[in-house]
Amino acid sequence: MFDGLQTLPQPMVVRIDGARITGLWPEAGFDPAQAEGCREAGRGGLVTPGLVDCHTHLVFGGSRAGEFERRLEGVSYAEIARAGGGILSTVRATRAASAHALFEAALPRLQALVDDGVTTVEIKSGYALDVAGELKMLRVARRLGQPEEGGLPVRVTTTLLGAHALPPEFTSDADGYIDQVCERMIPTAAAEGLADAVDVFCEGIAFSPAQCERVFQAAHHHGLAIKVHAEQLSNLGGAALAARYGALSADHLEYLDEAGVQAMAAAGTVGVLLPGAFLTLRETQLPPVELLRCHGVPIALATDANPGSSPLFMPTLMLNLACTLFRLTPREALAGMTAHGARALGLAEIGRIAVGQRADLCVWDVAHSAELAYAVQPGRLRQRVFGGRITHCRTPEAR
Ligand code: NIG
Ligand code: FE
Repeated sequence: MFDGLQTLPQPMVVRIDGARITGLWPEAGFDPAQAEGCREAGRGGLVTPGLVDCHTHLVFGGSRAGEFERRLEGVSYAEIARAGGGILSTVRATRAASAHALFEAALPRLQALVDDGVTTVEIKSGYALDVAGELKMLRVARRLGQPEEGGLPVRVTTTLLGAHALPPEFTSDADGYIDQVCERMIPTAAAEGLADAVDVFCEGIAFSPAQCERVFQAAHHHGLAIKVHAEQLSNLGGAALAARYGALSADHLEYLDEAGVQAMAAAGTVGVLLPGAFLTLRETQLPPVELLRCHGVPIALATDANPGSSPLFMPTLMLNLACTLFRLTPREALAGMTAHGARALGLAEIGRIAVGQRADLCVWDVAHSAELAYAVQPGRLRQRVFGGRITHCRTPEAR
């Protein structure tokens, strides 16, 4: 009845009771007597699951526009990082900002995602790199998804990314910093219910596989899911390592080799591609899309929205970039920001249009799913339904 995209291939009636989808019928065979109390929401539009942005760094202080200019002059991302800029420059600004200031700065970024159809977003910490600051970031992230606290109607999952970069206090003691991540950050975040997952940056300019493995062990011990930034700038085998620990996802993956793909396939680890970072850093090494396909690794897509490598806050742009840069099909791209994005977060109840799923839906002013990826055009979201409630409605007559 549905195509692989989980969009509706023919006019359908979707029944929603409370927060869930409870019925689906082809419109042709639908008995209007069943329609009492129904409202017509999506006629003539394309209905998709609400978009899932499964990898973002939305909470941060400061701006890296100056660094952007330096990169345009030819200085590389890694060179800037080694000179104490890059992530560490955002760390300085984030440490200096209050929780209130971080929240206020992140809110319009989140609003931009929501206005582009996002109903679930993952937000990472990783720009404070000390215990109190990382917890502060996670609290801000949680609050962003709480409308009663001034946040927005969107599901927020949080990920502790303490092992994102080496903070200046530990310049010659990376293992000492990893001790702090494992012995203080992870246990406290887990005990306070502030993190759903733990992430690490496995890279020459960040942490070694051995250090990442210690973080995975601590995450396991405290019952938190595992994710990894891996194979972005080089191949250290981080994705395979994370897969051995049952990681939900391995993200970036430009330098992933076939052994890594096989390890991910065996573990059911989702491959999250981040075309915004690829574009912004003007990378040339393409992720191994064909190998991921061949081995049946689910491919998710995300914005990676962050101040350095992907200051891009438009999920539907990622659909386009994934097709134009990585040669995903529009169908794959949309599955990457719905069903597979949900899987990358370990969420079984979202990402598809099916009976029993949460009623998180988008109605778009397009006739075919390929149009979503084909044109980069804000304002096509006609309706957004979150947990059965219409939270965005552009056409007054459809209210
Ligand atoms: O996903 N790769 C590491 N972390 C982020 C970049 C963060 C930054 O540059 O501020 C990423 O691309
Ligand atoms: Fe990232």
